[in-house]
Amino acid sequence: MLAIESSCDETAAAVVADGRHVRSSVVSSQVDLHARFGGVVPEIAGRAHLERLLPVVDEALASAGLSRADGPSLAAVAATSGPGLIGSLLVGVSAAKALALAWNVPYVAVNHLEGHLFASLLEAPDLEHPAIVLLVSGGHTLLVRLDAPGRYALLGGTVDDAAGEAFDKVARYLGLGYPGGPAIEAAARQGDPTAVAFPRPMLDEGFSCSFSGLKTAVVTTVRARPELSTEDVAASFQAAVIDVLVHKALAAARAVGARSICLAGGVGANGPLRARLEEAAAAAGLSSYLPSRAMCTDNAAMIAACAFARLERSGASPLDSGAEPSLAFPAA
Ligand code: KG4
Ligand code: ZN
Repeated sequence: MLAIESSCDETAAAVVADGRHVRSSVVSSQVDLHARFGGVVPEIAGRAHLERLLPVVDEALASAGLSRADGPSLAAVAATSGPGLIGSLLVGVSAAKALALAWNVPYVAVNHLEGHLFASLLEAPDLEHPAIVLLVSGGHTLLVRLDAPGRYALLGGTVDDAAGEAFDKVARYLGLGYPGGPAIEAAARQGDPTAVAFPRPMLDEGFSCSFSGLKTAVVTTVRARPELSTEDVAASFQAAVIDVLVHKALAAARAVGARSICLAGGVGANGPLRARLEEAAAAAGLSSYLPSRAMCTDNAAMIAACAFARLERSGASPLDSGAEPSLAFPAA
């Protein structure tokens, strides 16, 4: 399976065998192109995907010991079809469909969010089910019950900003640059997480969460107390987000009788979040699985794993299917 991921600002391609064995996974990040604008510029992202996609595909094929001449022997070509930036998605979808047509192999459209769930399958095939997956990315914050690979139910999620979006917006406000998550994490290392008692929004209100009020609290606090150091604000903000996420994930695990907890999405790369989740899961007698940082952030290996399951379950996607920027989390 050759898979392509181009939903946001990473151009990625991977070759995965049997939905499990990663033969190659290449990720070309555009961070350097967007940094000076303080966020992803959709037009620049789309154009960069167009320039980088085929070289990245060729590199993924070569690292797996293949070339484009081997295309007809692939099981399928997959691509993320949504959610994401329309101009970025279209580059990956069009390329995957063109390659599938030229090689006469099936095309498989993959939901990016479902793809993130499959990251755990690649690195932890023995994950104990049912599991709770805390999927925290730039665009989404979701709590998912995973009953088996490819069988899941959405329990809840953010009612406004995603966790990663909150990190990015707060980092921008604090002048820490883009991408915000790693910048906040680095600044927080020098700060005191108890310096400001930021609110822990919707802590005991089911599986929904909200981060937009917390973001506003950072702004009003910084205005009211200019003497606070950026490091203390970053550390206190990060502590509030982590408290909410870990609390919600454990509450969800208790509610559904989960045996394990698993992390997914770009915010899953956050060191203190990983440590707290692991600690809290162990204290609750649950096993936890934290995918490697490279598997948390956007990559095409997880898209290939998801495509493999999709192909087995529901067959190929039509070549006239398009890209859907607001594609929702799929019903199980
Ligand atoms: O999953 P992802 O790579 O792309 C999306 O599908 O959105 O997630 C990107 C998000 C960004 O908001 C970024 O700031 C956040 O993940 N992120 C982090 C860290 N690394 C990336 N957030 C907190 N701490 C990190 N170390
Ligand atoms: Zn993602």
